[in-house]
Amino acid sequence: MFEEAQYFAPVATRDDGSIEVELGAGHPGFADPVYRARRNAIAALAVGYVPGTPIPTAEYTDQEHEVWALVSRELGLKHHKYATAEYLRATERLGLPAERIPQLQEVSELLEPLTGFRYVPAAGLVPLREFYGVLEDGFFHSTQYIRHHSTPLYTPEPDVIHEVIGHANALASDRYSRLYRLAGAAARRVEGKEALEFISKIFWFTMEFGVMTDQGELRAYGAGILSSYGEIEEFRGMDIRPLDIAAMGTTHYDITKYQDVLFRAESLEHLEDVVGDFWATCDDESITRLIADVR
Ligand SMILES: [Fe+2]
Repeated sequence: MFEEAQYFAPVATRDDGSIEVELGAGHPGFADPVYRARRNAIAALAVGYVPGTPIPTAEYTDQEHEVWALVSRELGLKHHKYATAEYLRATERLGLPAERIPQLQEVSELLEPLTGFRYVPAAGLVPLREFYGVLEDGFFHSTQYIRHHSTPLYTPEPDVIHEVIGHANALASDRYSRLYRLAGAAARRVEGKEALEFISKIFWFTMEFGVMTDQGELRAYGAGILSSYGEIEEFRGMDIRPLDIAAMGTTHYDITKYQDVLFRAESLEHLEDVVGDFWATCDDESITRLIADVR
């Protein structure tokens, strides 16, 4: 799997001012010049984006819309079995299109009346402090490209399926979106790099890979699990640990593999009490103490 601000293909500006996305040789779209040209054009939209203006329209092919339709249908079926009731309610509330990739502008227009969240296009890596900080104001940085059509059920990077099916559905929930905002407030409050990374790890183990007891069984609310065709079938078999701030903030994870350690909240209230309260009150000092206690 992957994490915002860590696992994006680098985006370079050439001497002539054009934008190039540097896909690795193992990327499914590496040898497809048409896909690569589209990736460059979509990244350029984000680089040139002026905050406060409508998000430019990304051009997708029919094949790419078909990828969305396929993944959206498959994940939708799995969500009924594996997603929390709160996530499923939020999905109903948001009403994303099932048959085509929505433009990010459209996602913003669906979300804003519900929870005030708006999408901001991101070409690639967004610095941690910026990515998390603006969550407090209801802005979510999102990539706009979609995975290569040859591997519809796999992506090495966070694409629009992850950003929108995973995150926008969660952001349509009043209660989950409040947690995103609290994470943003926490990221802005701390000054040290270590504290910021601690906060981002809590985000990783909750809003990206969080699971909870829901309807009497283990269900997922994390966007990383709920947007991953493979991972969603596996999470119940992972090493499931009790929700614990110090443990989450200091547990190492590998972004390139399925997450084998997950943390379980006993309910949404429990998540809000433990993680919401932590984000609402933490500072550099309290985080340093938590880290020292673990060592
Ligand atoms: Fe994410």
